[in-house]
Formats: sequence, C-alpha cells, structure tokens
Amino acid sequence: MNDRIPMSVIPGDYAGLQPGEARCPGPSVQDIVERDAKPAPQALRETNYRFLGEEDIEYSRYTSREFFERELQEIWGKTWQWACREEHIPQVGDYYVYEVGPYSVLVVRTDEGIKAYYNSCLHRGTKLRPEEGIGSAQELRCPYHGWTWNLDGSLKSVPSAWDFPHVKPEAYTLPEVKVGLWGGFVFINLDENAEPLESYLDVLPEHFGSWDMSKRYIELHIAKVLPCNWKTGMEAFLESYHVLETHPQLLPGTSDANVQYDVYGDHVTRFYAVGGISSPHLEKRLTEQELVDSMLVGDRSVVGDDLKVGEGETARTVMARYLRKTLGEKYRASLEHFSDAEIIDTIEYHVFPNMVLFPGVSLPMVYRFRPLGTDPERCLFEILFLRPVPDSGKHPEPPEVAFVGEDESYGVVPGLDPVLANVYDQDTGNLRSQQLGFKASKKRGQTLGNYQEVRIRHFEQVVDQYVQRAVR
Ligand code: FES
Ligand SMILES: [Fe+2]
Repeated sequence: MNDRIPMSVIPGDYAGLQPGEARCPGPSVQDIVERDAKPAPQALRETNYRFLGEEDIEYSRYTSREFFERELQEIWGKTWQWACREEHIPQVGDYYVYEVGPYSVLVVRTDEGIKAYYNSCLHRGTKLRPEEGIGSAQELRCPYHGWTWNLDGSLKSVPSAWDFPHVKPEAYTLPEVKVGLWGGFVFINLDENAEPLESYLDVLPEHFGSWDMSKRYIELHIAKVLPCNWKTGMEAFLESYHVLETHPQLLPGTSDANVQYDVYGDHVTRFYAVGGISSPHLEKRLTEQELVDSMLVGDRSVVGDDLKVGEGETARTVMARYLRKTLGEKYRASLEHFSDAEIIDTIEYHVFPNMVLFPGVSLPMVYRFRPLGTDPERCLFEILFLRPVPDSGKHPEPPEVAFVGEDESYGVVPGLDPVLANVYDQDTGNLRSQQLGFKASKKRGQTLGNYQEVRIRHFEQVVDQYVQRAVR
C-alpha cells in the first residue's frame, strides 16, 4: 500500500488564519474542475462555505428520549420529507404507505393527482393499511369494521349506517396531509401551515436545473436497520473526513481531503468530491494512466484503446468519456450532454431533515434516514440507485426493497457492486460503537472540524431551530 504523507499534524499551528479559513494542501476542487475538457455546469463552479462556530455538539441530542420526542413533534411532524417516487404509484388507485416514528401517511394516486391522508380510520383509529409499502385499491376500506372511503378521501360507505345517524359524510372525509412534487419524488408534510415545498428546497431546484431527477428510475432499493440515532447514521455520510481512516482502499482514486463543502439556506448543504485524482494524503500519487487503470474492475478485454490516456489528456477526461459511452449503452440513454464532472464526480446534496441526494451519473444514489418506531437509538437507512430512464421514455418498474439484516454485510444484495458493498459495510460498521461511545464518554459532546464537518454543524443548528420551537 502506498505510504501516506504525515499530514495529521497536531492542530494549532495555523497562526494568521481565521477559524474556517484553513484548507487541505493540494489543488482545490475548483482548480481541478476548471481544467476539465467538457466543462461543468455553473452550480458546480461555485463555493459557498461559511464558518458556523466551533462549540461541541452535545451527545445527549443523540441519546435522550426527551430530545427525540421534541424532534418527532417539531421536525418529523413539520418538515417536508420524500415519501416515495412517482413511479411507485403510476396508476390511479396505487398507494404508498410512508412511516416515520409514530406517523403513518397513505399517499394515493387519484383522478385529481396525488393526495396523502393520515393512515388512520375515522371510526376507531385502526390503520387503514397496516405497514409501509406499496399497493393498489379502488377504495380505501378499513380492515376492522369495513368503513370505506373513495380514493379522493370522501366517505363511501359505513356498515350498519342506521347506527351512525351522527356521522355526517361531509365531516368524515379523510384528513389530508400536504403533498409536494419535485424531481419525481413525492414529498409530504404533516404541518398544514407548512411553507411551499418549492421555497423549502432552497437552491435545489436552481442547482438541479440540468439534472432532471424525474428522468431517473430506481434500479436498486436497499434498506438496513442501524443501531444508532437517525442523526448519528446520517452524519456518517455528510463528511469525507472519515475516508482516510475508514475507507483507506479508496485513497488512490479519490480526493478525500480537498473535498469541497458548501452550506446554503436552512435546508440544503452539499459536498463535492472530484474523481480521477489521488488523495493528497498519499506520498506517491498515481499517474494519469494508473488512475484510469485503477478505476476499472472486471473484463479489460472489451476496453480497447478508449482507456489510453492520450497526449495532454487527464484521467478525468478519459474516465468521463468511457463512462459516458458505456453507461449510455447500458441504460440506453444518451449521456452526451453531461460534463466530465457530472459523469464521474461524487456530488452530494443534503435536504433537511433526512434526504441525501447524488445527482452524478456514475454514483447516482439517494439515501434516507428515519427514526424507527419510537426508539431514539435505532433508525432505518435506505439506499436507492437512480439510473437514467432510457431515451424511449419508458420508466422501468421499481424493484422490491432488499433488506440487509442488522449484522449482515451489504454483500448479500444482488446487483450491488461489491466495491460499494464493502464501503457501506465500513460506513455502517462504526455506528454502533459511536452510539455506545456517546454514553460511555466523560466528555459531553462531539468536536467538529471547521471545514470538513461543517455540514454536520449546519444540520445540527437547523435541528436546534426546529426543536427549540417546542420549548418556547
Ligand atoms: S376502526 Fe376502522 S372501521 Fe372500525
Ligand atoms: Fe464513507
């Protein structure tokens, strides 16, 4: 293995710089992207960091039941969350049950578009559908006594109606939950006074102007229960600082330490990691040709000259050209309009509270982290791969969810690249220990890096803004 540069000096010798001004030595993301043969869009040519403070983040917010209950009320009960993709419910009558903490929402496609209802019968409260998942029905009938609603939420029938003269149909319409659509995602919000989804999403619609996420389909959908708070789990994916220690095998082909971190309004942050260059932590960087060679696994016989780095070319150009062609053929979609950066880089947006979205073409994931039931120390982590819809426009059907057991490797998921399965095992492998360490600690909170961990601080500050409404 390549030796590392002893870069982890003791902090404190950056005299003359204000907090948050120091950066890892080496070229910045912008220096690298600026030289790309096929230029990146404007959204990737900007930086938007600001220093947000340096106080520790208290561990109790990840372990305390009281804090968790405030989150349930003020965050999960009041924010926009994506419940499903539109392709989960393509026909009138198709529905998706979305659950988070104690909440359960029935998202239904009706003649009038997509609506969402509280998943609870107006007779004696039974859930109209028992658990998360998809289904199809022409009416919504409660399994207990058979009260039935039309898809539009109006009351259709009540068995032994003679016994309920006090039930006026107009007052027994299913209460609605707000719905918003963006990029093929169906969002819900339990707060009837919620701001519109469009403004909640901040810079997202603008940045995603040329990344139409509605033209993607779900190739793979994986779910795993994590033995930690939902924030513990999610924060493992908001920084690249851990790559050096947790994923050392990735260092030759990723720029870990000079990843760019951006914070926008309350609900959106981003990191941007360029591919096709070596980590600045490595003593010996790979040549452009070695970088290209290290990218590929599998059968090299089909590759031919496409992967020779020509005079004056960079690994980034060659990789992007290769993936544009091979992924385009695989997904029967033209990828010619994508820049090198959009093809090969790891671009990750976080949307408060729990959506992590990668618009890039070769790493096209969406993550979602949710509390599971009412236990503050368990959460559900989902990974979806969203691939380009074929040029024919036909959306392939969503796959079944592949569940990975709590102590099982991601390697069991058919269709998941073993290299990525290993990375997810490494990522999730730290979390039980971290959650337990919160409670074993004498120190009271996490100490964050000013730059590389700024998204965690930003996120936790917004968590505070929400939960503090509960104590006012
Ligand atoms: S509880 Fe639903 S019909 Fe009785
Ligand atoms: Fe990781």
